[in-house]
Amino acid sequence: MTKTDVLKLLKNTNDYISGQMLCEEFGVSRTAIWKVINQLKEDGYEIESVSNKGYKIINSPDIIKDYEIESNKEFSDGFIAKVEYFDEIDSTNNEAKRQGDDYNSEPKLFITESQTGGRGRRGRNWVSPKGSGIWMSLLFKPDIMPSQASMLTIVAAMAVAAAIKDLLPEADCKIKWPNDIVINERKVCGILTEMSAELEYIHYVVIGIGINVNTTEFPDEIKDIAASIYSLTGVKVNRSQLVVVFSKEFKKFYNIFMVKKDLGDLVNDYDKMLINKGREVSTTGAVAIEGKAVGINSLGELIIKTKDGALESVRAGEVSVRGLYSYV
Ligand code: BTN
Repeated sequence: MTKTDVLKLLKNTNDYISGQMLCEEFGVSRTAIWKVINQLKEDGYEIESVSNKGYKIINSPDIIKDYEIESNKEFSDGFIAKVEYFDEIDSTNNEAKRQGDDYNSEPKLFITESQTGGRGRRGRNWVSPKGSGIWMSLLFKPDIMPSQASMLTIVAAMAVAAAIKDLLPEADCKIKWPNDIVINERKVCGILTEMSAELEYIHYVVIGIGINVNTTEFPDEIKDIAASIYSLTGVKVNRSQLVVVFSKEFKKFYNIFMVKKDLGDLVNDYDKMLINKGREVSTTGAVAIEGKAVGINSLGELIIKTKDGALESVRAGEVSVRGLYSYV
């Protein structure tokens, strides 16, 4: 009997569940049940216990522990099969990579309350304070070529944006190409995808996702750019619920992606979420391209219409969007 088992039963029942029933269900003693219930109460679960009736869950805390996520009613509808939680870790991407070589099974999520060495793209660091964000990495082995893996980042960005929209339909949630999630034009989520591969074979992919959910304070260096879902919308989203909805959305988009192993059937949906669309952008790579972003192609490249009307596609890298993140 695990905490996940007990929570699943409690969450799936509107009425009281008797201690006797729990004992029979799991083949354990009343004391064992009582101990688990007490541990859950210590975690912040509000569980009512009434003599002759049993236990009833009244409220779940905003925690992202494995048993809170896995006991969610919708968890089994999603892409993630297993969750491993850490109070604190250097980086969930690092942990996923440490376990990656030995992992040959179902998609696994590593999630933590705080990272001491959170990593962003291009060697930047990623501020990952305790208690207010989602710092997670998804480890899996997709049956695609290494050259196709960068498209998974786009699939993940679509899933995060869609999950935020599912929970907050009113939020102005968009994607800045290729994979920053913005609300009211401020970045709330970044994605760092890494992989271990040979030229023609992927050992594993790690999609690291950092979402500022309920964060209220940011260090000076990033406070003009970064913000959180809460600071922008005033709504405190339950983090474990967001993880579960993300997992469902990821499964949906991933399955579409896997049919052709490209983004052809996702381009329309992506372009609807794309904040760059129709706006002036400029690339900051070796060759500077300026023009209006048109959308993406089936490989996830950004198509830019330059002043002379030519269509250029940008593979990866940084683009600046006029008016966004203090680009002028
Ligand atoms: C970016 O630069 O925008 C990407 C940020 C990615 C941050 C996430 S948080 C969970 C995972 N672990 C890390 O060290 N980084 C990613």
